[in-house]
Amino acid sequence: MRERHAPPPPAAGKELIATELAAARARSLAYTDVEDDLLVRQHSPLMSPLVWDLAHVGNYEELWVLRAAGGITPLRPEIDDIYDAFKHPRKDRPSLPLLGPAEARRYISGVRGRVLDVLDAVDLEDPDPLRAGGFVFGLVVQHEHQHDETMLATLQLSGEPGLIRDGELPPGRAQEAGETRSEDEVFVRPGPFFMGTDALPWAYDNERPSHLVDLPGYWIDRWPVSNGDYLAFIADGGYDDPRWWRPEGWEWVRQKGIHAPLFWTRDGAEGDAGRHIGHRGNGGRRAAGGDGWWRRRFGRMEPVPLDEPVQHVSWYEADAYARWAGKRLPTEAEWEKACGGRRFPWGDADPRPDQANLGHRAARPAPVGAYPAGAGPYGAEQMIGDVWEWTSSWFQPYPGFRSFPYPEYSEVFFGETYRVLRGGSWATHPTAIRTTFRNWDYPIRRQIFAGFRCARAAG
Ligand SMILES: [Fe+2]
Repeated sequence: MRERHAPPPPAAGKELIATELAAARARSLAYTDVEDDLLVRQHSPLMSPLVWDLAHVGNYEELWVLRAAGGITPLRPEIDDIYDAFKHPRKDRPSLPLLGPAEARRYISGVRGRVLDVLDAVDLEDPDPLRAGGFVFGLVVQHEHQHDETMLATLQLSGEPGLIRDGELPPGRAQEAGETRSEDEVFVRPGPFFMGTDALPWAYDNERPSHLVDLPGYWIDRWPVSNGDYLAFIADGGYDDPRWWRPEGWEWVRQKGIHAPLFWTRDGAEGDAGRHIGHRGNGGRRAAGGDGWWRRRFGRMEPVPLDEPVQHVSWYEADAYARWAGKRLPTEAEWEKACGGRRFPWGDADPRPDQANLGHRAARPAPVGAYPAGAGPYGAEQMIGDVWEWTSSWFQPYPGFRSFPYPEYSEVFFGETYRVLRGGSWATHPTAIRTTFRNWDYPIRRQIFAGFRCARAAG
């Protein structure tokens, strides 16, 4: 049996906290450094206008750092209601009296100045659970990075070109002729492991407490399912065969006319991205990768790269693919155990650039096989970064769960409504991910940067 998480990293010092706060803010400001019109417009009913996210991160910081931890009187109590995510669904947010872009920037910068004063004065050894180890600062840093990732999803939905920085990533692994990547699996030995954490100071309530889970042996894919793998499912008529689908998933793809991941379109086909096809440079099947399929990525059309992990698929599509492949999605316990009971699959040290694709180094997942140095103890690669991975599990509390610091963080979402995603994506900041981190969403959601890998029972 593996030990519980190794000794916790030293609680974050004030300098590190200040650096993390600044990094999250730099990111939010970069993603909202666009024309005012793009900030106030609603690009999709699934998303808030970007200017809502911007002021909301400041309001959240005010509520938790200034008022709850710092005992400071409200700066703008009249706007609390507007930025309460529980009071107004995203589709209704454009009709609220939102702060304009300039006012939102002023507001969040005013809050931030006072947050740094609270940080200066706070005792990080204080036993108060909000202050201990700087938890409340970890809460707002991770929250801001999560909204930054949401902003990227909004910008992707907007279809506006030229707003998002791309970059270089390591190459993938060369594929041998006739080799199918999805057949490469690693074996995870039977036995108990400690799931969740008690030790990581910035972990959320839903990751706690650490508890023993005993699993039989199982196989899990070494890599996330690639676009090339997924195209084989499409080519085999996967979207037209009810055998592979849960009844409610089948009804949903029929009703919505879904035949491919979100943002994909086929040569000559009219689709979500069809209006942009005229701008592409060269023709269909002979383009690098693609197989006749194109995708719209931050406003540009490009051939679908066969060796990248598939993204923008719903849980229903992931589940159907797995059944077609003779496998299933891993449970979240199986996913986490394959990481070896460490903060990251490679150990407890912060991610290096050769271990995982995190923090928007480029605006896409890296090819399958790009991070052998990030492998876990059983050999699974790219568990962290690239794409969020759907698991078969509902979002449920661990045994002994205690809501902290408020029930609306996790508790109100528990049940059989949301499926758990693990591992973070290329758009996730390293501070906001670890092997115990749990994300959750509706099984129909496709705008998030999510893909999956498969598993199967041993024997
Ligand atoms: Fe939020």
